[in-house]
Amino acid sequence: MTNKASAPDPWGRNVLVEFEDGIAWVSMNRPEKKNAINVELAKEMAAVVDALEIDDRCGVMVLTGAGDAFSAGMDLKGYFQATDNLSEVERMRAYRINGTWQWRRLLHYPKPTIAMVNGWCFGGAFTPLCACDLAIAAEEATFGLSEINWGIIPAGIVSKAVAVLVRQREALYYVMTGETFNGTKAASMGLVNEAVPKARLRERTRELAKTLLTKNPSALRTAKVAFKMSSEMTWEQAADYLGAKSDQLQFVDPERGRVQGMKQFLDDKTYRPGLGAYRRPKDK
Ligand code: COA
Repeated sequence: MTNKASAPDPWGRNVLVEFEDGIAWVSMNRPEKKNAINVELAKEMAAVVDALEIDDRCGVMVLTGAGDAFSAGMDLKGYFQATDNLSEVERMRAYRINGTWQWRRLLHYPKPTIAMVNGWCFGGAFTPLCACDLAIAAEEATFGLSEINWGIIPAGIVSKAVAVLVRQREALYYVMTGETFNGTKAASMGLVNEAVPKARLRERTRELAKTLLTKNPSALRTAKVAFKMSSEMTWEQAADYLGAKSDQLQFVDPERGRVQGMKQFLDDKTYRPGLGAYRRPKDK
């Protein structure tokens, strides 16, 4: 069932959404401006992320960019200059809306997310890149924390987001020099999972998304949130929290995956959990 009510789709101007067999391909869509994120794009993206949360056509969300850029980061004119002269409250509101889609929602999004970095990726674009669960880049993509080149710092929450994924020596090198690096380097730093030739980027991303679509969605949702949350806890807190999440999953999972998995392995002997997912109800 698709819960789309009667509201018009919130995408179509600065954001494009294409559905394909459970995958929602979400493209930042200002290719003539290298998908720089202006206030309008941020608002549209916040609405898109909200809508896809309850849209059954989206089992996995892929975030990418139209044209030859993932995103050239925050729009110097349409985000920074456009908000400079607003009242303090209006400016904070604009920044909050951008933070809403870039990390507050994406970080613990209830569906798996993959950033597909197809080209230029600068500054503020690192935030949604890091907030997505997984990331695949084109080897030829160009990344840069360019803020230092024009006299600012990686703010918003870029510095924090990068620090979660990248070792300090690597991160500070690029924060302090503003040098660019390619997709292959991004993979070696842990900023993305892997880099593939640009010609294979969509195919490899699709393959990864399809793997995720074979898994129990409740377990996936719980696994990713629990991983991210527990990484910021002490060991004792994490043990208690993970135990509670584990119990919660059994309670809320409509597929009763744990029971299914046990039965299919121990009784039916129809699968090996070490080698793949159990047969889900819809696969029967
Ligand atoms: N903000 C506003 N406009 C931007 C932009 C940004 N972050 N990035 C690109 N654009 C605009 C350019 O001004 C240009 O507009 P115009 O056609 O009206 O002149 C258009 O997008 C195309 O960019 P251009 O610079 O001509 O493309 P390029 O292929 O020569 O270079 C980049 C691509 C990404 C290397 C270059 O645009 C760039 O350095 N952008 C800024 C990246 C950055 O520092 N981002 C951090 C922001 S936090």
